Amino acid sequence: MSRVVWGSLGVLLGAVGLGVYWRYDGYDPESIRGATVVITGCSSGMGEEMAYQYARLGAKILITARRENRLKEVVAKAMSLGAQEAHYVAGDMGKAEDCERTIQTAKEKFGRLDYLVINHAGSSFGMSDWAEDFRFWEENPDMDFLVDFVNINMISYVRLASLALPLLKESSGHIVVMSSYAGKIPTMAYSAANVVQFGVDGFFSCLRAELQKADRNVSVTLAILGMVATKATESMLKKLPGGEDMLAMAAPVDKVVQAVIRGGATRTREVYYPSYSWFLSNIRRLPTFLEDYLIQHALAM
Ligand SMILES: NC(=O)c1ccc[n+]([C@@H]2O[C@H](COP(=O)([O-])OP(=O)(O)OC[C@H]3O[C@@H](n4cnc5c(N)ncnc54)[C@H](OP(=O)(O)O)[C@@H]3O)[C@@H](O)[C@H]2O)c1
Repeated sequence: MSRVVWGSLGVLLGAVGLGVYWRYDGYDPESIRGATVVITGCSSGMGEEMAYQYARLGAKILITARRENRLKEVVAKAMSLGAQEAHYVAGDMGKAEDCERTIQTAKEKFGRLDYLVINHAGSSFGMSDWAEDFRFWEENPDMDFLVDFVNINMISYVRLASLALPLLKESSGHIVVMSSYAGKIPTMAYSAANVVQFGVDGFFSCLRAELQKADRNVSVTLAILGMVATKATESMLKKLPGGEDMLAMAAPVDKVVQAVIRGGATRTREVYYPSYSWFLSNIRRLPTFLEDYLIQHALAM
């Protein structure tokens, strides 16, 4: 064979090797067996699936949400799937005392905490009205809604992480935070989501840097998600013109949760799923005319 062929073969093998190295994250599902995990927002959607996947991996879980009847069902199913232990705390994460009760219960039941997965999303005013009300902020500057939304979806995230930090420092644990590309770029008609997600992204990115600087072995993983085909997303999209097409692009819940659990276990800083959420998150790096076009036209609801 000629030198050119050998050379090309070498380059190809090198590229494949580099690709494998790049993708290798050292994930060992066995590392989760027996781990103690608190997950919020587990009565439906990704939190419920998260409870089942951690259960299959043999973790000890403590789950929260407001609907106690649903939590009892999720706990029972998690035990049948292989959880070493499964407990619940019924509570409203918008209330400081319920956040405190959640972390205190984890301490009492497990004596240690390896993972805090903050996933809940809600509003005391109900989510469906807000999610389907595509109005710009100037048309409906609803401060009561915003204050409640920020409290439940951002302040409680900070509160839970702060309460859990002493336990996580003892166990060299992991904080996993569900977020979306709405924490990276403006999403018109969803400014409340921008307030919350930019806040979550800012706080947890800063916390990660501070923990690193202080030599604490506690990782912070942000899940930067695109649209996910939960039941709530499905019912919202089905009411929209063209919603069925958008639903076809939504990521399957089990795959998203798999990626997030893996990212948490391997201490990945940011998990992008589906991969287009990485592109969307970087739109602001484009020339402004392109950024404006994409945000105001291509991505507008
Ligand atoms: N679905 C998507 O397309 C998507 C995209 C990007 C990011 N995300 C993020 O991913 C996470 C999970 O989303 P999801 O779609 O799976 O949510 P979901 O199906 O709407 O479930 C939300 C969960 O949060 C709980 N919850 C709501 N308000 C609460 C409160 N005040 N206190 C305690 N628990 C409360 C709900 O239970 P109760 O009602 O029983 O309390 C439920 O278990 C969220 O952080 C969301 O922002 C979702």
